[in-house]
Amino acid sequence: MRISIIGAGYVGLVTAVALATKGHNIIVIDVDNIKVDAINRGESPIWEEGLDELLLNCVRDDGSLKASSDYGEILDSDVTLICVDTISKSDGSLNLSNIEDSVKGIGTVLSKKRDYHVVVTRSTVIPGTTRNLIVPLLGKYSGKQVGSELGVAVNPEFMQEGKALQTSSHPDRIIIGEYDRKAGDMVRGIYDDISVPILRTDITTAEMIKSASNAFLTTKISFINEIGNICQKLGIDVYTVAKGMGFDHRIGDQFLNAGVGFGGSCLPKDLKALLFTSVNDLSYRPRLLEAVYDVNRDQAMRMIELAEQKLGNLANKRISILGLAFKPNTADIRVAPAIEIIRRLLEKGALIAAYDPEAMLDARRILPQARYCDSAIEAVSDSDCVLVLTEWNEFRDESLYHGKVVIDGRRILIPERAKAFCDYQGICW
Ligand code: UDX
Repeated sequence: MRISIIGAGYVGLVTAVALATKGHNIIVIDVDNIKVDAINRGESPIWEEGLDELLLNCVRDDGSLKASSDYGEILDSDVTLICVDTISKSDGSLNLSNIEDSVKGIGTVLSKKRDYHVVVTRSTVIPGTTRNLIVPLLGKYSGKQVGSELGVAVNPEFMQEGKALQTSSHPDRIIIGEYDRKAGDMVRGIYDDISVPILRTDITTAEMIKSASNAFLTTKISFINEIGNICQKLGIDVYTVAKGMGFDHRIGDQFLNAGVGFGGSCLPKDLKALLFTSVNDLSYRPRLLEAVYDVNRDQAMRMIELAEQKLGNLANKRISILGLAFKPNTADIRVAPAIEIIRRLLEKGALIAAYDPEAMLDARRILPQARYCDSAIEAVSDSDCVLVLTEWNEFRDESLYHGKVVIDGRRILIPERAKAFCDYQGICW
């Protein structure tokens, strides 16, 4: 199938490479010429394990993927996937200007196309966005009858950074929301070779499946963190509790790792957006989801409370930060717990020495007051207290922590062993 993808960010590029690798013909369209040129050279503008190699293969060897900044290229495709970023506004609602701009561009180009074409929402949006915003804009700018001359569908992605290619090529399920049956059939055709459950729904239900899935994942994390906070007071290990719970198939063993909380470009943003819409547009106060958000915010701050318990006043104390990325195997620091924690520590006058194997560039830019080290060993030397905030494998090396005060936010060490060689404290164990 000939597929155009709008947006060369995380979702767009990974989707593009995954679909090109399966034999589809992909054109990635982005307004950023620097990204477009990089992709056409076979260089990925984002860091993700294995992506560079596959991209180069698609661009150079089989020519199944190319990039352009010209929306006109949409005319050479049958389906267009909208994969642009939606970012949070300060009130928690989503800024949809990227979606609006891309839909206007797509509609204008499609006004020149005679054949049927399908436009698919793949970016995560609040339920109702495709019906209330995208469909009317497409109709206006294309001059076509949406639902007959022009098809619309919603096909959310569920990929996880760090294993984006694997989760994109081998998803647990495929959700297809269809405005018109023909659009759903065309999207179904993209996944002909994948045998996983496929659920076809209306467009708004598909959007809600994505929002609810992310909200549920955050609920699991805040739930286990809250149980951890209780367990810690009772002298019980929350990891053993989670293991015991996870054998129950109704509960499952995933997303029950207690720690410093969830971050990243998706979960916090999508949770906030659902909260905002619920309260402001639907006059419903989702108390459970509000608590999920509050527990997560407070959990990160526990690291600072624990440091204060160990060291007293933090002014001029040397604090080592191991891990800046919101999770391992990514360079992404968006809404990473480490960033807010460092900000608060700096406000308290602490001296920060930080290290992350991949995420130093962006951290340096937004928090220049911290000292950035070339290695974990350098970061922990002469330290009053080490905070572990991302579970990179290299931080499992016990020799880093000998004789130190360590506050573990990610269960990087085995507590019983660690207590023998350092002053060890888990965040909620
Ligand atoms: C998430 C969803 O998992 C994915 O389905 C969606 O498409 C996009 O958002 P991602 O942002 O890549 O993916 O990160 P994820 O692996 O879900 O982790 C999110 C955060 O939760 C990380 O900060 C991670 O450290 C934290 N987390 C995860 C926990 O604290 N405990 C857990 O048990 C799992």
